[in-house]
Amino acid sequence: GELEPFSNFPPVDFTVKEEREVYPAAMSKIRKDFGKKYALHINGKDVVTDDTLDSYNPADPSEIIGTVCQAGIAEVDQAVSAAKQAYIDWRNVEPRERAQYLLKASKYCKEHIHDLCALQVLEVGKQWDQAQADIGEAIDFMEYYAREMIRLGDPKRMGNSPGEFSQYFYQGKGVAAVIAPWNFPLAISVGMVAAAIVCGCPVVYKPAGISSVVGHGLVDMFKAAGLPDGVFNYTPGRGSVMGDYLVDHPDIAVIAFTGSMEVGLRIQERAAKVHPGQEHCKKVIAEMGGKNAIIIDDDADLDEAVLGVLYASFGFQGQKCSACSRVIVLDSIYDRFVHRLKEAAESVKLGPAEDPSNYMGPVVDKAAQKNVLNYGKIAEEEGKVLVKHEAPAEYLSKGGCYTPLLIVEGITKEHRIAQEEVFGPILAVMRASTFLEAVDIANSTKFALTGAVYSRSPKNLEYASREFRVGNLYLNKPSVGALVERHSFGGFKMSGVGSKSGGPDYLLQFMDPRLVCENT
Ligand code: SER
Repeated sequence: GELEPFSNFPPVDFTVKEEREVYPAAMSKIRKDFGKKYALHINGKDVVTDDTLDSYNPADPSEIIGTVCQAGIAEVDQAVSAAKQAYIDWRNVEPRERAQYLLKASKYCKEHIHDLCALQVLEVGKQWDQAQADIGEAIDFMEYYAREMIRLGDPKRMGNSPGEFSQYFYQGKGVAAVIAPWNFPLAISVGMVAAAIVCGCPVVYKPAGISSVVGHGLVDMFKAAGLPDGVFNYTPGRGSVMGDYLVDHPDIAVIAFTGSMEVGLRIQERAAKVHPGQEHCKKVIAEMGGKNAIIIDDDADLDEAVLGVLYASFGFQGQKCSACSRVIVLDSIYDRFVHRLKEAAESVKLGPAEDPSNYMGPVVDKAAQKNVLNYGKIAEEEGKVLVKHEAPAEYLSKGGCYTPLLIVEGITKEHRIAQEEVFGPILAVMRASTFLEAVDIANSTKFALTGAVYSRSPKNLEYASREFRVGNLYLNKPSVGALVERHSFGGFKMSGVGSKSGGPDYLLQFMDPRLVCENT
């Protein structure tokens, strides 16, 4: 039958008792599987390797979530060759039929939402509500891209010249390498993978090492959907061992990447080089970093603005490309806003994400902790500490990967902390004397991903809509939490190349248009 029009998966409602109670139960259940070994999945078969990597709970590194086999060059070759073989049939499967696999995988996620959510809370330290939002976004991507492929799948008659019948249609480009981040470990993985698959491109998927047990969930969901062998291959591996090899591989036609600017630029550079046997110009879709600002106008609703800035800056410890890392405050409201921000930030609880009363948890692993602590030093040198809120000693003594919730003021455009992406809970407060100057400061980085403005002035909101040049601008709401379709997501400048995920142009990037004209 006809599909219902797309609508977003609803957010969790913690006022419902059953919703609250289901989480601790789900955690106890999945903890029984902890420490298990996860194989690669290539051409429909599990593949075990000698090299393995342990994924641990960032709140308690002694808790091993899983031991994950690591692909080397040989396994990448196997996976790419399986995908290349699968492409021959997969590209000819009717778009509508390809869409059905996504809908089945989406159904699997809906049925397993609590387990998927619990795993994410423990593997990357994401707060409950945000973990559920991540699964919801994965579901949304599959539901949306399934419908998008159906929309794009019917050949279009072009022109109406008598004596000819001209048809325009799309074909998957070929084998796609999907290189995913750990911060939205299910949603962004599923978004890129589902898009490639539904467009007719078999996938070699490299999850981030830190979240590769969540990544293994894609094996389960596409198995449940009955996807043909070789169309989805799970190949976690060390970037230093197989990252470049995968990108350089002559049989890769598309690379979908989300992660840091440094890695994104490296991929684009390497992908431009043609290797022996290569028959494609590689297409790179890269979503990279941000240095996102929120502007607080002099007439802003401070109740909303304080909560919005806090959430956008410190939700999931600021580890989102959309996170706010600069708040630009108009002079005339500066003291009032900063005073309230400080009080609010000092009042939140820090501790494991597992306990929903904690507002902020540990950063994702020891390397991230080291990097964020280093930026903390830079922030303290460049500015003046407004808030330095540490996790309680009992959590630190367990070796949890905590870093303080840090807010510094006195930051100007030239400072490193105003220009470099930290990917952690550090917020720079900046001052502006006019709204125009605030927008100018907001635009003064090489990134252009998200931004937000709290203001009651229609004139200023209109000015910001035009001149605050980012991919996603939010007026009187936080800079994070984009929803599929409603807030199609992605930026430009050094924030990435390619069209917005969850938006109407996204799938086109995975396909080549063809035209057949018949003389009738
Ligand atoms: N889509 C996420 C957000 O909007 C970032 O990747 O927060």
